[in-house]
Amino acid sequence: MVYDKLTYAGNPDNLRHLEDNPRYSFVRGDICDMPLVDRMVQEQGINIILNFAAETHVDRSILEPGSFIQTDIYGTYVLLEATKKFGLERMVQISTDEVYGEVTTGSSVESDPLRPRSPYAASKAGGDLICLAYYTTYGTPVVITRGSNSIGPYQYPEKVVPLFITNALDDLPLPLYGDGLQMRDYQYVIDHCEGIDTVLHKGKIGEIYNVGSGVEIRNIDMAKQILRFLKKPKSLIRYVEDRPGHDRRYSLDTTKLQALGWRSRHTFQEALEKTVKWYKENEWWWRKIKSGEYKVWYERQYGKRKTIAP
Ligand code: DAU
Repeated sequence: MVYDKLTYAGNPDNLRHLEDNPRYSFVRGDICDMPLVDRMVQEQGINIILNFAAETHVDRSILEPGSFIQTDIYGTYVLLEATKKFGLERMVQISTDEVYGEVTTGSSVESDPLRPRSPYAASKAGGDLICLAYYTTYGTPVVITRGSNSIGPYQYPEKVVPLFITNALDDLPLPLYGDGLQMRDYQYVIDHCEGIDTVLHKGKIGEIYNVGSGVEIRNIDMAKQILRFLKKPKSLIRYVEDRPGHDRRYSLDTTKLQALGWRSRHTFQEALEKTVKWYKENEWWWRKIKSGEYKVWYERQYGKRKTIAP
């Protein structure tokens, strides 16, 4: 059962291919709505919750942090309460490498202290801490995954990779923040999902597992690679004013998850190439999005952003 509020980034088109599957059902709802969550868990005989629900975009959290604190912290509490009250088998909390904060050297292990630096990262760190507190205090069966940047089909084009691909397809500028030398671990969404599935089935209750490819790429190199795949000129790259508090680098040590048998199966090149191909072949999906309220967001986020010298 998919339970989703369908905010701006939610999209029934993403699940269209599942509509005839007898094992699939959809309920529109907010994880902050405790009476509805409780009713659905009971009526549908739910035994496991995977919490993918979140406000996720760092730039939006800088403009309006309130909904992040509400959904990512309070919403997580509502799901933990349901897990505890109805004696569910397990709750998997999907978290992020951003809770560790900027990593200048080495790689983050699961026991590292949390040093979130954006309202988004802080709200996710809050969710993680409530999960761990429920485990310690009540023995609630919760397990946490912390993933790096996902890329792949159906990603809302506010995230940098689909934003750059769709802009490049339309010969629009690619707004690269600051010096473009920030590093991210861009993993293919299927690898990320397989990591979560491994933790769902084999992860130890009360534990945390990092999920990432272990390969960090500079944003400028990611942008150039997209342009190369699309045979577009480098002159489309536009250096713009940086994101406030921009984390330079994240890096995950995934030894703990690998010990459960999981391996990342796509290289960065393969992941990016598949992603570019999907956006090229699925204009029906993203053109609809980019013509709607997205335009208002784009103007607010990029309209007044100054171009800077590289
Ligand atoms: O690391 C995992 C996280 O990855 C997830 O927890 C977040 O939900 C997800 O949004 C993502 O956060 P990032 O801030 O890393 O992703 P984003 O796609 O916004 O940006 C990736 C990098 O690209 C980052 O260094 C900022 C840069 N960037 C982003 C945008 C939107 C640009 O240079 N220009 C842009 O227009």
